[in-house]
Amino acid sequence: MIQTTSREPRSLSSDILVYFAAETGKKTPDCADPDIRKILRVPWKNGDFSGKEGQVFLIYPSMAAGLHKKDIRAGRILLVGLGKPEKLDSARREQLRLAAGTAARKGIDLKAKEMVVVLPDSVDLPSRQMAECVTEGLILGNYRFDKYKTKSEDEDGTGAVERFILHPGSHGESAVRKGMTRGRHAALAACTTRDMANEPGNGWTPERFALYGNRLAREYGLRCQVLDKQEMEKLGMGGILAVNQGSATPPRLVILEYRTRKKNPTLMLVGKGLTFDSGGVSLKPASGMEEMKYDMCGGAAVMAAMEAIAQEKPAGINVVALVPATDNMPSGTATKPGDIITHYNGKTSEIINTDAEGRLILADALAYGVEKFRPDGVVDLATLTGAVIIGLGHHHTGLLANNDQLAGQLLRAGELAGEPLWRLPLGREYRKQLKSEVADLKNTGGRPAGTITAACYLEEFVGEVPWAHLDIAGTAWNFTEKSYIPKGPSGIGTRTIINLVLHWKNLGQPGGGKD
Ligand code: BES
Ligand code: MN
Ligand code: ZN
Repeated sequence: MIQTTSREPRSLSSDILVYFAAETGKKTPDCADPDIRKILRVPWKNGDFSGKEGQVFLIYPSMAAGLHKKDIRAGRILLVGLGKPEKLDSARREQLRLAAGTAARKGIDLKAKEMVVVLPDSVDLPSRQMAECVTEGLILGNYRFDKYKTKSEDEDGTGAVERFILHPGSHGESAVRKGMTRGRHAALAACTTRDMANEPGNGWTPERFALYGNRLAREYGLRCQVLDKQEMEKLGMGGILAVNQGSATPPRLVILEYRTRKKNPTLMLVGKGLTFDSGGVSLKPASGMEEMKYDMCGGAAVMAAMEAIAQEKPAGINVVALVPATDNMPSGTATKPGDIITHYNGKTSEIINTDAEGRLILADALAYGVEKFRPDGVVDLATLTGAVIIGLGHHHTGLLANNDQLAGQLLRAGELAGEPLWRLPLGREYRKQLKSEVADLKNTGGRPAGTITAACYLEEFVGEVPWAHLDIAGTAWNFTEKSYIPKGPSGIGTRTIINLVLHWKNLGQPGGGKD
């Protein structure tokens, strides 16, 4: 679906040949081909195409005087604006993703099957990163989910682009190939997250997480272990069992291990795999309830990131992923408000609201994983609270952590991925809101600081281990409209986690985090 070439761009016959141009304000655009520069002279001077972010300009070689004689074999030439030169590397990376996403979308509009994309010279980034980000933008922007459309999308002419060919421009081909490979792994993982999330509650069941985990184990030599309901009962995972109690579909706890050397640090990932959240007996309103099929986006991100990690094979780190998976349904057997449950670590909890279920399944997975794998750091991802949408909207993921170095590494990983995080505080004062009269904890802390009290609940189950929690309820779907993020699930968190793992610095050592 994506490859590199070193052949002269104009000699390649494709549907569209893409060049990027920055908004430099200079006399001519910074397109590498002198003939195309010439053709652009008038539109550039008029400001019809000035390289602004999101701008596109189409040239038909057959219509442009002189060009048809120059052996340009592409059906069309597409210029895509990069916007103004950016100061920060993370902003430059985002600029490339956005422009590449715009190119892919335009390709879909024009029913292109094959596009040749020439890397720009004008963005000040190492060639590898440049290729990585352009690749991500192309693949993420080209995403479609049409599995359940019986009429093929091709008939509507909106099928995805089949093949991208990356031309290195003035960059070294080997660096470009390396960057492209990493970008492809990361972007395809994020697309896998989107695919899982797009599946409805009757399609993506807990067992599907198990099947995916087993496939990764077979394909990449990871270790996959799946705990079923009976094993959870034996282990005393009262949280997952309580959430599953009203359901006709059995729960799963999927555990995937990427192992290097024993002496290497272990990072533990936990993702909320709530395949449908009706709220349970504390039923949610009907309007918009269908969106609660997305309540497994944290689990999806964690699992899909493991595939990219298995492909990239970082040498100095072990990664374990746990996904507690169940739906949350009301029924005669369902957990009731007031019920008291016992978590894996023995802590008891009074269920005030059965709709605060994410923390219940995460608590067991966290306590079990911390005990079993003795990780050096823990990161969980969850669509945990509506409150984070009130606080941060759809443009930042909430980050809460008991460790500044881990928080710093995550902030940086999110910045590199174009998935910004914003840290919120934790603290004793907030934890008080979870005090119960009859149990160790209650599962809701009232309206104030709902995202923080939810994180406080989780904190009870990680002990002293460095831990960070990402509340992706606002960013997992209907995320900031971007060229490379379509409507529906964004795949958020997947690439942040991949970056975190690939740039991992041991905690407690100098350079372990930017804080
Ligand atoms: N899955 C929801 C959180 C959510 C809400 C995600 C809206 C995305 C959009 C979670 O299980 C939930 O229901 N949380 C409750 C907690 C409350 C009962 C303390 C919430 O946020 O309302
Ligand atoms: Mn809920
Ligand atoms: Zn939920």
